[in-house]
Amino acid sequence: MVVANRLPVDFTVDDDGGVSWQRSPGGLVTALEPVMQKADGAWVGWSGAPDLAHEPFEADDMLLVPVTLSRSEIERYYEGFSNDTLWPLYHDVISPPTYHRQWWDAYRRVNQRFAEAAAAQAAEGGVVWVHDYQLQLVPKMLRDLRPDLRIGFFDHIPFPPVELFQQLPWRKQIVEGLLGADLVGFQRGGDASNFVRAVRRLTEHTTRGPIISITNEAGGPGRHVRAAAFPISIDSQRFDQLARQPEIQARAKEIRTDLGDPDVMMLGVDRLDYTKGIRHRIKAYGELLQDGRLDVEHATLVQVASPSRENVGAYQDLREHVEILVGRINGEFGELGHSAIHYLHHSYPAEEMAALYLAADVMLVTSLRDGMNLVAKEYIAARSDEQGVLVLSEFTGAADELAPGPLLVNPHDIDGMKDIIAAAATMDPREQRRRMRRLRRKVMADDVSKWSESFLGVLTAMPHRTTYV
Ligand code: F6P
Repeated sequence: MVVANRLPVDFTVDDDGGVSWQRSPGGLVTALEPVMQKADGAWVGWSGAPDLAHEPFEADDMLLVPVTLSRSEIERYYEGFSNDTLWPLYHDVISPPTYHRQWWDAYRRVNQRFAEAAAAQAAEGGVVWVHDYQLQLVPKMLRDLRPDLRIGFFDHIPFPPVELFQQLPWRKQIVEGLLGADLVGFQRGGDASNFVRAVRRLTEHTTRGPIISITNEAGGPGRHVRAAAFPISIDSQRFDQLARQPEIQARAKEIRTDLGDPDVMMLGVDRLDYTKGIRHRIKAYGELLQDGRLDVEHATLVQVASPSRENVGAYQDLREHVEILVGRINGEFGELGHSAIHYLHHSYPAEEMAALYLAADVMLVTSLRDGMNLVAKEYIAARSDEQGVLVLSEFTGAADELAPGPLLVNPHDIDGMKDIIAAAATMDPREQRRRMRRLRRKVMADDVSKWSESFLGVLTAMPHRTTYV
């Protein structure tokens, strides 16, 4: 069973009250859907709409179990505590986190509801895999309800250093919540070590390397919890195959023609999120035009910024800043028939994304902090032609995995980033091939099904409820 904030479908309620659903986007869905279809399992999650109560139903060979959230719970648990407290705190406080007790109460209440829904569905002795920062209390709540279960947790975003984490007024409850799991997985080794340090600093439990020993205050048997890195991958075969299709290749050519056949097409693809370094990237690009190192007749930047968390103030501010910056650069440097930046505030299906990846000479991933960054991996998977250059921020989980191969940048260093972008724009095709081959060896071997198999393999091999003295 999977427990995640979102179900892999979005519901729409039409005017006459009828409910329909469609697949919802996002890396987690891509990562887990194939595993769940094979496992004949259930997926507990929120429908994405307020106040929508729905019976469990079958979709795409999975049993989907919707959890209902009221409008106020969406505001406090999802937009508030998850995305205006935890999200900025876990991403190096790029934006200041907000701490509200009412948000915390809603977070606890909603986590309890998810735990109860999972407890009601799970088979005796079953395996439950809980996902991400929205549900960090679920492992303990679920263990209290169903001690027979084997429970795994995977954190898709960074886990911060304890010096930042300890700002959180409810830091101990979050750590204890996670320790309800048998296995706590992270994107990078550094995230797992940050978590183990937080356990040492904030609790009485003892640790030995990646193993945390939980003492039972009632004097009963204790347990061991393992914290380890399981870097997530993508459905690499899907992007590889999509990009080999003649229609997608024709679409990639058409995109370049529509852009005025530039010598260099650069591409950024992100959720419109302040962690992604979109402003830093656009600033660097604008300065390259200003300095005359790039010009709009020969180069263009396509920035896909998909709408995200639009009710959260920091996201509204970011949108305004990005759009003002794009407008200014286009006004200053654009010419008839040659825009400096093509800014697209939309989401696109995988087919269009594959065509964009194939069309792009340079892929810019300049996050200020990113758990992994799957876009970087999708770009590589789509490039079976072994061309294209990946510019990748040092502050992504992907950089830990993929270097050497990408051109690494520190997005805070605008001058350094300008030099790297300029080098990417003029990289010799043989050097591109050498780097892309190396990147593809890694990405094509690491399919997402291997990621979930490896996590579930470790979880199910762990001795259950180990007794120790
Ligand atoms: O990266 C964390 C994550 O929660 C993903 O699982 C998800 O695809 C993405 O952020 C978008 O989040 P939201 O559910 O808030 O739209």
